[in-house]
Amino acid sequence: MEARWIWLWVTLCSFWIVVHGDSGGDFFKTSEYIHPGRPGPWVQSSRGQVWPQPKLSRPNGKRYSLVHPEKFTFQLDANSAACDLIQNAVNRFYVRTFPRRTAKTAQSFNTNHPWFQALHQDPNFQGVLDSVQIVMNTKKGCEKYPHLDMDEHYEVKIDAPDSPKTASIIAFNAWGILRGFETFSQLVYGAEEHGGLYQVNSVQIMDQPRFSHRGVMLDSSRHFLSKRVIYDNLDLMEMNKMNVFHWHISDDPAFPYESLRFPNMSLKGAYRPYTHVYSQEDIREIIEYARIRGIRVMPEFDTPGHTQSWELGQPGLLAKCYRGSQPDGTLGPFDPTKDSLYDFLEVFFKEIGTVFPDNFMHLGGDEVDKMCWQSNPHIMEFVKKNLGGNLGKLESYYIEKLLPIIADLPTKNGYIVWQEVFDNKDKVKNDTIIQVWKGGPNDWANKLQQITSTGLRALLSAPWYLNYINYGSDWTNYYIIEPLNFEGTQAQKKLFVGGEACIWGEFVSSVNLIPRLWPRASAVAERLWSPEHVKDVNDAASRLQEHECRMLQRGYPVEPANGPSFCDVAW
Ligand SMILES: *[C@@H]1O[C@H](CO)[C@@H](O)[C@H](O)[C@H]1NC(C)=O
Ligand SMILES: *[C@@H]1O[C@H](CO)[C@@H](O)[C@H](O)[C@H]1NC(C)=O
Repeated sequence: MEARWIWLWVTLCSFWIVVHGDSGGDFFKTSEYIHPGRPGPWVQSSRGQVWPQPKLSRPNGKRYSLVHPEKFTFQLDANSAACDLIQNAVNRFYVRTFPRRTAKTAQSFNTNHPWFQALHQDPNFQGVLDSVQIVMNTKKGCEKYPHLDMDEHYEVKIDAPDSPKTASIIAFNAWGILRGFETFSQLVYGAEEHGGLYQVNSVQIMDQPRFSHRGVMLDSSRHFLSKRVIYDNLDLMEMNKMNVFHWHISDDPAFPYESLRFPNMSLKGAYRPYTHVYSQEDIREIIEYARIRGIRVMPEFDTPGHTQSWELGQPGLLAKCYRGSQPDGTLGPFDPTKDSLYDFLEVFFKEIGTVFPDNFMHLGGDEVDKMCWQSNPHIMEFVKKNLGGNLGKLESYYIEKLLPIIADLPTKNGYIVWQEVFDNKDKVKNDTIIQVWKGGPNDWANKLQQITSTGLRALLSAPWYLNYINYGSDWTNYYIIEPLNFEGTQAQKKLFVGGEACIWGEFVSSVNLIPRLWPRASAVAERLWSPEHVKDVNDAASRLQEHECRMLQRGYPVEPANGPSFCDVAW
């Protein structure tokens, strides 16, 4: 970029901040940040700090212990030893806690080393921590699938005043234990000054999420996303304590879902059958991979628009567009006037209900183009006869016929729809969740106010479309959002269930998904997990710097978030 463009960019950003009055803190506001005027990284990394920031974290003075990877174990109590989720987690978190474990580290450690002997002169040194006790308070805490109301609260104690020189992760529920494992793995950090051993500072943490739905939406229609990348993203979600994978699986360009009942839909609707599809086995594996990380998989089959690829394997679903009195050969959204459409949807969604165990299904409902419907004389005749000539009501007619089909599925007790369904005043069941995706801060805040005032629950993603990119540190824009900053009573605020970082796939494939999403989505993760008062951008920046390197070190290609910097691991 030419210097004058950088200058222009900086000027525009400053202008934007002044106009919008965001308090991004010194980190974001000053040109010092852009040109710190000193050598070294722009942001200094923290050491052994947790992302997202826990609710309560009390250090025990400056006390610390060392951890030797070869001599460390997670000790499960009877309840956790009987829980598959926790058994599964032990190995995963061992590797995460000691990402650079090498034979060299182990060999070089010797308690006779002068440096180790010297440590005993340090009153803060508490010795070598050899285990963490995993304590799950009730047997019932081992649930099969994560869900909207899952209990994720936990406690981590490391050399706490009431239990010196020991460590434990305590929770009522396996989901809480998993979150505690992640926190513990982040508290341990490589300490070069201690002969390559790891260090952990004494602390007591009591933690739980602020909002229960903390999601990432991926789009596997515009570009087919490999299973490997979906797995990597689930790993990263777990590292950021996010718990919903919203899978926008189909759209206009391609239909990659391999249906049992309707195999032609992917045979003809996928970019390539067999290679660019998700088989039933793939989907089972992805759901299982997510489940053991405490992540829900919520499928979205967007209708009645965004459905061009459905028609290839299931002809007759879409409306024919006309020019004058003749079909012009193009097709629009679903044709809601056909009874056969609903017969198909009933069978199709019954299958989806059995394939995806989550209680929620996302039904889409966004961006329906009405031009084609309007051109079609049969459709307009139907509208005249049944909907008082009001074409606007045709979409509602469709949604109101679809919803009971979903609500009657045995495993489903709820659905999520994009905000248009609310904007069209469609009659929905009172347990519907409306996902707000449109407009700037005033627009989405007003929309949240309106939705919750009718007693419906709301989910926010408008400020978190991470497919859009800028040159510079844009994570701060996502970080400073306060989702409850809308007019409304306490009861209304309680109807806000959380948010999602969305990454649409027009220009995102398996190649650039991970670096584009992370660590930018980490900003959303902390906003949705940590208490409202955790909003100091400067403090967040140094923790995010550490977290970025942590994710890189664990093997994920995340991009630099804070400008010039370095991580211990070389890529
Ligand atoms: C799938 O498409 C083929 C033509 O390619 C057709 O012969 C067959 O009947 C279709 N199957 C179903 C179940 O519609
Ligand atoms: C929806 O309505 C039912 C029946 O009136 C009620 O029991 C339930 O609590 C309501 N749910 C929500 C989310 O408002």
